Amino acid sequence: MKTRHIRIEEQNTDEELIRQAGDILRSGGLVAFPTETVYGLGGDALNPASSARIYQAKGRPSDNPLIVHIADMEALDAIVRKIPDEARALAEAFWPGPLTMILPKADIVPRETTGGLETVAVRMPAHRTARELIRAAGGYVAAPSANRSGRPSPTLAKYVAQDLDGRIEMIIDGGSVEIGLESTIVDLTSDKPTILRPGYITRQMLERVLSYVEEDSTLMRCDTGQAPKAPGMKYRHYAPAGELTIVDGDREHTVRYINEELARAGQRHKRTAVIAADETVDLYRADIRKSVGSRGHEETVARELYRVLRELDDEEAEVIFAEAFDGDGIGRAVMNRLLKASGYHTVQV
Ligand code: TXA
Ligand code: MG
Repeated sequence: MKTRHIRIEEQNTDEELIRQAGDILRSGGLVAFPTETVYGLGGDALNPASSARIYQAKGRPSDNPLIVHIADMEALDAIVRKIPDEARALAEAFWPGPLTMILPKADIVPRETTGGLETVAVRMPAHRTARELIRAAGGYVAAPSANRSGRPSPTLAKYVAQDLDGRIEMIIDGGSVEIGLESTIVDLTSDKPTILRPGYITRQMLERVLSYVEEDSTLMRCDTGQAPKAPGMKYRHYAPAGELTIVDGDREHTVRYINEELARAGQRHKRTAVIAADETVDLYRADIRKSVGSRGHEETVARELYRVLRELDDEEAEVIFAEAFDGDGIGRAVMNRLLKASGYHTVQV
């Protein structure tokens, strides 16, 4: 299949191109498009054949459910059996935006879209091109991140093309995404609202609207003996081809430990790499040094992380050390993705 590449600026919608992209989705085809979090791989969420094609294009296991993207609040009624008050309150506060809610699904949503579950994940993105595409497609677009399964989510259209060129009908290039990590997922179908995936919308932000929000115990540790509640979180996502270790400790100990380990790996003739902050990146003796930005700017770190993980694969890094990143805001999501990328391989120094 020949993939058509088009460019649409968020501030400057091309109605004719959006109509053509919408027609592809209406007829069962796939279109990758920008959102504020990461690029999505869109198909008609109410068409079981489209969802099957999404799984095929991504090489994704079909028990891993898709997020249904909507553009207007009215669209929610048709796909959700009952909208709880908490969902209305969260939608009021955070939609359109980087929040996904798990809700009981209505019959109209095919099981192919929800990976066989009786619940459905719904998000109303803030990105203008995304919303116009959803409307042009008839209102319901299933969209996982637009990467091949196991690769980091794409933050630029060129990464979508690397993974999916020739496998889908169209890629809409909207430039760099704003946030760089996937949406926060909150489950509203269990006893207590529960975060299944951390993102830009933090627990504190959610608790300003709902007085108490739980966090899935598997998000930051793997030794709980439990399976993550979001099926997709159980896969070893985002993992680079090289062996990644996260080193957590104060600056001096971290730099010393990583440099010792880099020297050891160098003796074994391994191609070495480091993921660090602007403040420390020059202190390391690695073949490849990558900064994800300044420690003071969690937002920048979030936006750069997946690009850096992809570049380390392109540059064939074999042994990779990353400084730990954490924080009160999106830093928690950064650390969650790093932990998953490393297979929870951390060292305290
Ligand atoms: O920011 C985002 O959410 C991006 C953009 C494109 O909107 N999309 C995205 O989709 O990250 P995806 O498919 O890569 O991740 C969806 C996650 C998976 O971990 C999946 O298991 C979980 O959502 N999920 C979807 N439906 C669910 C459900 N009914 N119950 C529990 N988890 C669900
Ligand atoms: Mg994904």
